[in-house]
Amino acid sequence: MDMKFKTKKNQDMTSLDPTNVPKHVAIIMDGNGRWAKKRGLPRFAGHKEGMKTIKKVVERAVELELEAITLYAFSTENWKRPPKEVEFIMKLPSQFLDTYLPELIENNVKVTTIGHYEGLPEFTKKAVQYSVDQTKNNTGLVLNFALNYGSRSEIVDAVKNVCQDVNSDKININDIDEELISKYLYTNQLPDPDLVIRTSGEQRLSNYLLWQVAYAEFYFTEKLWPEFNHEAFDEAILEFQNRKRRFGGL
Ligand code: FPP
Repeated sequence: MDMKFKTKKNQDMTSLDPTNVPKHVAIIMDGNGRWAKKRGLPRFAGHKEGMKTIKKVVERAVELELEAITLYAFSTENWKRPPKEVEFIMKLPSQFLDTYLPELIENNVKVTTIGHYEGLPEFTKKAVQYSVDQTKNNTGLVLNFALNYGSRSEIVDAVKNVCQDVNSDKININDIDEELISKYLYTNQLPDPDLVIRTSGEQRLSNYLLWQVAYAEFYFTEKLWPEFNHEAFDEAILEFQNRKRRFGGL
């Protein structure tokens, strides 16, 4: 895999408005399996190729000075896949982070995760935790991996924690409002995503950040995740910039 993180500052920015980039882009990386199948390759090959796309998207997000990207790397539903595929996917975070951590650090990227971390295999947790620790003081792009993540389960966790804090008089029932609920979600350190991208032509949310995307713009592309690149990311952002966001107003 190409080791070098290419930042080509200020290139290709001509058609994008640098003052109107989304703060937080949430991505559903879909179509790895179909990409491989089209080429007569095993599904694993698609996931491997998909990691290269992650690198490209992170590079571009750094250049465009986005605050955060959240990548749906493994959902709570993905455990239903054949064990061999699950095992392969679980090795990808360590492969990605072992390869790119120095570049991420160089680019001031902060790695974080959301999801049921404790349910991940030890080797996955170890790689992710190391990168989280090594980048915790970075102040640039937040590269947030949704791993063993499901939005409904996140909301259930939040409700339980709110109830516990009411029971122990830490908060009063009248303190519960939208802002407080947001603080109890895994994403409490991040602005709500303003753009959601899903590749491969599927138009579903698949239990992803249901609360947080209440006002997000949605962008669906036929491109399969391994085919997505800097230019495709720019196209999505351009489309975002051409949408009129009214947040319920006129
Ligand atoms: C969707 O394609 C892809 C996944 C469920 C796994 C995505 C994971 C990665 C790209 C790597 C994660 C890496 C890190 C660094 C955390 P699919 O298999 O559903 O494709 P299909 O719909 O065509 O079968």
